[in-house]
Amino acid sequence: MVVVIPILAGCLVYINKNVERSSALLNNAQVVQGGVPAVGLTSMMLNISMEFSYEELSAATNDFSLANKIGQGGFGTVYYAELRGEKTAIKKMDMKASRQFLAELKVLTHTHHLNLVRLFGYCVEGSLFLVYEYIENGNLSQRLHGSERDTFPWSARIQVALDAAKGLEYIHEHTVPLYVHCDIKSENILIDRNLRGKVADFGLTRLTKVGSKSHIMGTFGYMAPEYVRLGKVSPKVDVYAFGVVLYELISAKKAVIKVNDSEDVSKSLIALFNEVLSQVDSKDDLVKVIDPRLGGDYPLESVHKMAQLAKACTHEDPRLRPSMRHVVVELMTLSSSTEDWNTLSISSREGEAMIEREHGGEPSSPQVPICVGTQPSTPQE
Ligand SMILES: Nc1ncnc2c1ncn2[C@@H]1O[C@H](COP(=O)(O)OP(=O)(O)OP(=O)(O)O)[C@@H](O)[C@H]1O
Ligand SMILES: [Mg+2]
Repeated sequence: MVVVIPILAGCLVYINKNVERSSALLNNAQVVQGGVPAVGLTSMMLNISMEFSYEELSAATNDFSLANKIGQGGFGTVYYAELRGEKTAIKKMDMKASRQFLAELKVLTHTHHLNLVRLFGYCVEGSLFLVYEYIENGNLSQRLHGSERDTFPWSARIQVALDAAKGLEYIHEHTVPLYVHCDIKSENILIDRNLRGKVADFGLTRLTKVGSKSHIMGTFGYMAPEYVRLGKVSPKVDVYAFGVVLYELISAKKAVIKVNDSEDVSKSLIALFNEVLSQVDSKDDLVKVIDPRLGGDYPLESVHKMAQLAKACTHEDPRLRPSMRHVVVELMTLSSSTEDWNTLSISSREGEAMIEREHGGEPSSPQVPICVGTQPSTPQE
């Protein structure tokens, strides 16, 4: 649930850089050769900023029918629609957009990155409607906490973390203007058909409810202390929330957890992990909070390193948190060491199968994950 607290603050870091840089950063998907669209690119993907009519959106959603509804959030309702040959998710917002926000929306439709959910366009008739690319596999929260027992191996979790970190690094460091997301959480990381992560909803933080002057937006369990107390916005607010997402990937627990069956006593996932990681033998305690659905199939060293990264991200003092660029480098190191582990693990399984075939017996011992250590790396400038 999104929390909106009246306070003087703005989440968009509006740093004007030259516009040439912006166009240079536009996704290559827009490239047309000799004015002819490259094969496989639809008009929707090529068009830079698109306004839709209410009639078109209404027709594509069967008049915003329940059958087309795919989600409900703090800002409004999301519907599935096929528009101009493209699968889309239309967000019908509960609030109206200010003139300033509409100008910013145009900028958002120009922001393209593989790890950001693409905003195709919008409609401002009656309500505000945002038209996004449709992402097939739901959100990270559903995958981690949902009842479906989809497989979500450790290497895929690192990949989704790395994807989301890259998306965030992009909006923190490479867009014009630069953005702070301000509502990073597992619901706002969507998973595509290849199990890759994409950050949703960035740039929406300037949308205010009609009548309110300014606001803090965010979700309990993810909000950095300086943001809650002082309304202080910096990219480190997203780094903090991202740290909580890393803890969720490890434990499949929610950002705020019940201490016991009592409804009123709860504690943050951060507090739980701080207890675990402060133990002398923290790896022993860590094993107890790792998602049981992983079935022990992970390199403990890798999980421990991710937990330490999450701890650094959720440091009380924003100055002591790493930048998203640093987080990306750390996750890339973790990802490649986990690939090594996967390869070793597969060849050890193949070796066991071979022994079994040759001797016609059981493998000598159950498969034990092999831990491959990683060296801490420094961010590259
Ligand atoms: N582009 C999309 N493609 C596919 N599904 C989407 C898309 N955007 C949103 N959804 C689905 O709709 C749900 C509701 O989204 P919405 O952004 O309104 O709420 P939320 O993410 O739960 O909370 P918040 O309002 O804080 O963002 C999402 O959790 C997601 O499962
Ligand atoms: Mg969302």
